[in-house]
Amino acid sequence: MIRLWSALAFLVVVSLLSCQSDEELQRQRYITEGILLYKNNCANCHQTNGEGLASLYPPLAGSDYLADKNSVICLIRYGQQGPIVVNGKRYNRPMPAQAKLSDLEIAELTTYLYNKWGRETTVTGVKAVTPVLNQCKNRL
Ligand code: HEC
Repeated sequence: MIRLWSALAFLVVVSLLSCQSDEELQRQRYITEGILLYKNNCANCHQTNGEGLASLYPPLAGSDYLADKNSVICLIRYGQQGPIVVNGKRYNRPMPAQAKLSDLEIAELTTYLYNKWGRETTVTGVKAVTPVLNQCKNRL
């Protein structure tokens, strides 16, 4: 009987561990893709280290704008026009829309941005991103 219980306890522990590492694997996959997408679509302006460029392109590293994740998700797809304030500094240049990025790619980018510069250690999954994108469609 004791054996049976310890076998069951063992199984429970193993399944909990593998569940956690599935999530960790997904996070690593998203971040790996996110890094590539960032290099190809964002680093030209915001720079590889996310520090932005002078008064032209605002920083992502340490940006207080990241506090509003829904706005960031919308801004990646639809771009941004007009004045914007980041860490108390005013910027006013158009950021081009990225219409060719899929919902999944935006989820990967968002996961990368927030793991790198937003103090998060979790995945922003495509299931969370799609409803936000559907909403900002109406807003813009
Ligand atoms: C052509 C240059 C350019 C590219 C490419 C670009 N951005 Fe931007 N980005 C800007 C500018 C300019 C602003 C400020 C817009 C304004 O002044 O209204 C901005 C603003 C932002 C902001 C909000 C402000 C901040 O600094 O936190 C985020 C987040 C952002 N961009 C993320 C991205 C991501 C992610 C990508 C890649 C998918 C990207 N940008 C690609 C130029 C660019």
